[in-house]
Order: sequence, then structure tokens, then C-alpha cells
Amino acid sequence: MKKGTSSGHHANETEAVLKPSVKLKAEFNKKAAKPVSAGEILAPNAKRTLLPGKRYVLTAAQNNTEVNAGFLKALESYCKDNGAELLVSRFTYNKGGFDNSGQKDGELWYDPKLSKYICDKPMQIGKDLVFGGELDISPTASNPLSGFDNYFQGKSGVVPNPRVAMKSLPGLGEDNARFLYTTGAVTERNYIQKKAGQNAEFHHNYGALVVEVDENGHAFVRQLAADNSGMFQDLTNKYLPDGKIERNQPIEAITLGDIHVEKTDPVQDSVTFGKGGIMETLKPKYSFLQDIMDFTARNHHNMKDPFFWAEQKQKGNTVEGGFGTVAAWLKRHEQKGRQDIIVESNHDEAFDRWLKEQDVRFDPENARFWHEASAERYKQIESGQGDANIFEWAVRRAADLPNAVFLRENDSFIIGKNSEDGQGIECALHGHSGPNGARGSPKGFTQLATKANTGHTHTAGIIDGVYTAGVSGKLDMEYNKGPSSWSHSHVITYPNGKRAIITVKNGKWRADDKPHTAEAPLVPLIPKVEPSLKLPKPAPKLTVVK
Ligand SMILES: [Fe+2]
Ligand SMILES: [Fe+2]
Repeated sequence: MKKGTSSGHHANETEAVLKPSVKLKAEFNKKAAKPVSAGEILAPNAKRTLLPGKRYVLTAAQNNTEVNAGFLKALESYCKDNGAELLVSRFTYNKGGFDNSGQKDGELWYDPKLSKYICDKPMQIGKDLVFGGELDISPTASNPLSGFDNYFQGKSGVVPNPRVAMKSLPGLGEDNARFLYTTGAVTERNYIQKKAGQNAEFHHNYGALVVEVDENGHAFVRQLAADNSGMFQDLTNKYLPDGKIERNQPIEAITLGDIHVEKTDPVQDSVTFGKGGIMETLKPKYSFLQDIMDFTARNHHNMKDPFFWAEQKQKGNTVEGGFGTVAAWLKRHEQKGRQDIIVESNHDEAFDRWLKEQDVRFDPENARFWHEASAERYKQIESGQGDANIFEWAVRRAADLPNAVFLRENDSFIIGKNSEDGQGIECALHGHSGPNGARGSPKGFTQLATKANTGHTHTAGIIDGVYTAGVSGKLDMEYNKGPSSWSHSHVITYPNGKRAIITVKNGKWRADDKPHTAEAPLVPLIPKVEPSLKLPKPAPKLTVVK
């Protein structure tokens, strides 16, 4: 047979099956003949179709596997509720394990409930996202996103796969990080009971991605993570397996991207905390705040840089002023019903290091505060409270903060325990310290075999149960040069422990949001300076009368 005229996947044929793997191998279906040859000129990126809609829900389905009926029903009701279109990409696994002889055209069996949603083609959604519907990645792949860094060119990409994952990739310039996402699956668990299959069975997720495109063509993406019944929550709406919708549902927590308060990004801050913003909409019970203070004024990385010192002086940055900014930020953003949990982080710990290591005799801008904090530290130790948190002392002396809770590095704070796996999510790990004294990394934390919401890398991601937030502060912190994978991403945790990552971009956090503008700059709260002991007025000088 002549090359290019055979097996039905030539680019000129508009109805072409672009994923040949969903067809049976000839040995399993006598009616299907093997072609002699095949080939095509175009790469997948040349075959992408631009989808015209504004809302899509993307998921994946496995051959010879029942659909999770409750989840499909919940997704259908979600799509109706939100004016979204459901797209399901088929992937293949264990093709030889099932009888497909009754299938027409030699195709594998897929649950007919999904027929009208099948999309096995590459689809562009908005300006900056591609749904890789043509991809067929094994559900047992331990890292389904590996190898796809370039596949979607300069765009973000969606890989159909039941294992939930997300990866940030660097882009040139500011706020140009790209993301790779997997979808989760709408079909049940159906794995070969050997190592790879059994492990994948554990990581199988009933899930989908919602993509919202705004008027500028930018795509906002969130995970829709379902439980075994198929129920899932998206923001404050819960979609049930019987198709019902419950609105105004609570949000357990938000793990914000690292704060670095002296380097606040004023627009991002307004999207998160301003009128109509994330906090006002979601009203989470907890917010987890990491690297809340940048400790810009006297960070140990710059202690020997005289120009840096000069710059701090010129800008009026002091350590006490930094704490005053933390206090002012916490005070401004207090919300009734929400606890602000400050997770001990490496930038906060720089304060302790400064107290221990620096000679401040010739640092008049910071000397008094250094001595006060050091004295407090000694008082804590002498009164038997050597493990008290000096960082907490420095923030609380600047403002009354009844909603704030300060965690230490070895503390644990678990939320979202659910009845399905009995596991909750550890939220007290910033991410800078890894197991056995190693440097922390999201991959390293997967060894803990506990779900966790972390930060520190400023690079949002999901790897197995570890969700990493991005950064809330500026994307350009002066020390991070070159292409950047940083983004203004936050992790949302629902009461049942399911999670989603949202990303603020162009002053918005979702397509319908009105662009936010910067709020007024913070004024640091600094306690009045006065001597601690008021001495009696000096006695009048004796005047000698001659
Ligand atoms: Fe950090
Ligand atoms: Fe950080």
C-alpha cells in the first residue's frame, strides 16, 4: 500500500482518527487489517483547532472501563450550570485484557455514556492553552507530564491522564510562566494487578479541569477533584452525583503564594483581598501564610554588600519597619471567621539568624530594635520559655492580632480529613527543610506519604499529594533574574480535602472577574519609642547666692 493513502490518519481527512491507539491491534480483531505503512507530514501543533467557546471542562476516559456515573452526572450538571462544554479524551490501557470483538471498525469499547463528549484531537482554548486530546499516556505513568515541556510550544498544555499533576514552566519576562496540567479521569479504576497497575490504582483520581476564557483570550484553569461518589466542589458550589447543586458551600483553607510582605504586589494583593476578590468570595476558614516577611532590610545574603546597605538606608527600610509592615498587612486583611496561620519559613528565620550573628553597633537604624529583641530573647530563656517564638513577639508588639496563629517549624496543622482515605493535609510545612536535613523540594515531600500544601519554590505545582503554591509578592524580587516559573498561584482546600490551584493574572483570578487595581500602600505599624522607665525630674540645680 502506498504511504499516506492507507490507515485513515492522513492530515487531509477531516474525520481522521487522530489517536490510532484507540483501535485494536489486528491480532485482537480479525476484521481489522494491518496497514503496510503509514505516515504524515504535519506535527500535532499544526493540527490544532481553535475552540470558539468560553468555558470547557476537560477530562479523560479509559477503554473497556465503566464511567464513574455519579461523577459524569455531576460534571454534566456543572456544564449546564456554567455554560461549559465537556470534552473527554480517550486513553488506552490493557487492550488485550478485554473482549472487543463486537466493536465496529475495530475500535475499543468506551462507555457509550461518553460518546457525545469524545475529543481525541488537539484543541486550542483561548490564546494560551492547548488541550492535548490526541495524547495517549499510560495511566500507569508515574510522571505523566514528563517530556512535554516543549510539546505545547509557548502555551500551557493539558495532558489527559488520571493521575493529578501540575507543573510550572519558565517563561521569558515577568508573569509569563506556563503550566502543564493533567486532567484526572471520569472512568473507574481498572488496572492490571501488578506493580505498575496497583500503584497507579492508588493515584487514580476522579477529576477534570475547568477552563474559563476571558475577553482577552486568557485561560483560567482550576482542578475539579471528585470523591468516589463523583461529588466535587468548585469554589463555593458543590455538584452532587445525582445532578443536584448546593451553593454557598464553605471553603476550608487557602494556602497563599509566599507573601514576602515588604515586596507586596499591590494588584495581586487587591485581587486576593480587595472588594469582590478571592477572600471575600471564598471566605475560607483558614489562610496559611508562608514567608510572610521577606526580611529585606538585613537579609544574610546581602550583609556584606555595602551598596545594598546604602539602598536600604535610602529607601528607609529597617528590620522594625519590616515587622511593622507585616503587622499592618495582617491588620488590613483580617476577616471575621478566618484564622490567619503564619507558617514558620526560611525568610522569617532570617530574623533569628540576624539576632545571633550580627554586630549592630555600627547599624544605628537597627541597633535599638536588635537590642530590644535580643533582650526579649534572653528574658524568654531566663524565664524557662526558650522555645518561644521571637518572630511572633516582633509582629505582635506592633499590633493586636487576635486572628493570627504562629506555627513553629516542627508543628503540625492538618485539615481536610476525609472518610475515604482517613488522611488530611499537612499545612505546617513551608517547604524549605526536607527530610533528614536535605533541602526541601515538592518531590522530596512525596516521600512523607502525607498530603501537604507547601510553598517556598514560588513555582506552583502538584506532584502526587503535594500541592505547592506560587508567590503573592512581586514576580520580580530583584534577586530572581532570567526566565521565571513564578506565578501568583494559591491552593484552595475544600472541607473534604480535595484541592485546586488558582492563578491570578492580569489583575483577575477568574474569567468573570473585573480587573482589580492596586490598593493604597501599607503604612508600617511601629510602636512609639520611649524609655521603659520614667525617671523622676532632676532636682533643681542649687543656686549659690553670693
Ligand atoms: Fe521560603
Ligand atoms: Fe518565599
